[in-house]
Formats: sequence, C-alpha cells, structure tokens
Amino acid sequence: MIKFLVFLVVVTLYFHGAHTQYDNLPVTQSCLGCICEGISGCNVTSTCQGEVCGPFRITWPYWADAGKPTVKNEGPDSATAYRNCALDTFCSALAVQGYMQKYQQDCNGDGKIDCDDYAAIHKLGGYGCRGQLPSPFAERYQQCKKIVGGLGK
Ligand SMILES: *[C@@H]1O[C@H](CO)[C@@H](O)[C@H](O)[C@H]1NC(C)=O
Repeated sequence: MIKFLVFLVVVTLYFHGAHTQYDNLPVTQSCLGCICEGISGCNVTSTCQGEVCGPFRITWPYWADAGKPTVKNEGPDSATAYRNCALDTFCSALAVQGYMQKYQQDCNGDGKIDCDDYAAIHKLGGYGCRGQLPSPFAERYQQCKKIVGGLGK
C-alpha cells in the first residue's frame, strides 16, 4: 500500500503540472493506483518480463492502441519508445488513459462506466472485458478499492 501511495502522489503531481492536453482523462488517479496495485502490486521498479513491461504490465499492442505516448518527446516510431514509456510511471499511466479513452465501455452492465470497468478492460482487454477477473488481480484490486473508497469513476 505504501508503494501505491507513492505512486499516487507522483502521478498526481505530474498530471497537475501538465497542460490542458491532459484534461478530461477518463481514469481518476485513485483508480489508476488500484489498477496498478491489482496488476503488479504497483511495483514501480518492475522491468520487462516476456511481453509485458512496467508497473502496469503494458504490452506493445496495448501501448500502440493507447496512441503511443512517449517519454520526453521521443518519437513514437523509435525502437525504444514503447519500452521507455511502459517503464516510466507517468507515461505508462498516460498509456492506460489513452487505452481507456479508446475502449471505455460498461463491461459489467451496471449502467455506468467506472473503475471496475477500467480495471476489467486493463486486465482482460478492450474486447474481453466482460469476462471473469483472474486472481490475484481481482483480490488486489478489491482490497485497494476498499482502502481508497468510492472510486466512482
Ligand atoms: C519489483 O520488480 C523488480 C524487477 O522486476 C523485482 O526485482 C522486485 O522483486 C519486484 N518487487 C516486488 C516487491 O515484487
């Protein structure tokens, strides 16, 4: 949980320091934190394992669907752009936002699009989010949600 809080503060500071291009992002900071917690225990020092990189366990296709955000104006077609972004706390969070902008939908059919839907989309993908969330993602996400409270959006 400490890692999660550190992550939250870092990402919040970054977003607040950023310009208006980051207005209207679909996913709240605390929701981002709980997705991060669910997927990796929010290990912000995690590296690449197989086809996934970083605290959000982002794949190349996920990053591409997200609009290929990059770190420090690196060109999106650079060979290192995906890896650098996925390993960067802010850029990977931005990739999650971009992916959700594209795929946001009411996965669980409760009439609203909220963090439960974003978590499902993140873990199961834009086309499979109606499925069952696997362990330990589901438990870690729920635990985080309980601590953070609400997560209306
Ligand atoms: C975080 O990720 C790094 C790199 O993959 C790993 O060495 C470390 O054990 C992880 N930490 C935790 C708490 O899982």
